Amino acid sequence: MAPHPPGPSPAPGEQADFAAGVKRMFDRIAGVYDAMNRAMTAGLDRRWRERAADRAELQPGERALDVCCGTGDLALALADRVGPEGSVIGCDFSEPMLARARTKAARAGAAQVSFGWADALDLPYDDGSFDAVTVGF
Ligand SMILES: C[S@@+](CC[C@H](N)C(=O)[O-])C[C@H]1O[C@@H](n2cnc3c(N)ncnc32)[C@H](O)[C@@H]1O
Repeated sequence: MAPHPPGPSPAPGEQADFAAGVKRMFDRIAGVYDAMNRAMTAGLDRRWRERAADRAELQPGERALDVCCGTGDLALALADRVGPEGSVIGCDFSEPMLARARTKAARAGAAQVSFGWADALDLPYDDGSFDAVTVGF
């Protein structure tokens, strides 16, 4: 199943099947996702995330949530903005994508970022918990 098929959104009864298909696809491509992104955007994806992180206007010490974080690049860009006194949560429903995000954060020594499983359609966070919330394509 394609990630963003053209045409109308799935009907309510088809939502679960659609979501399961999206999840299966990202589980499958997690290992090549970053390389695909670089190739498909001619490297522009990095700049898009840096711009999104700037526009979140976070200050050192603040809290941010990155929904559908994938392999973690936008969450890590937010972590640079909030610094070691702040915190960033990245959430996604694909464990293979989250595993890559955790590896990157560990390599970067970004202890202020954590990655956890969550469905974007049923987020487990309280209202008003974050100074900024982002989602990158
Ligand atoms: C195109 S990728 C974008 C990843 C990342 N934001 C980035 O900038 O590269 C879409 C991500 O959204 C996740 N996703 C899609 N639907 C979701 C949902 N309902 N709940 C949580 N994650 C979801 C997928 O698993 C995938 O990691």
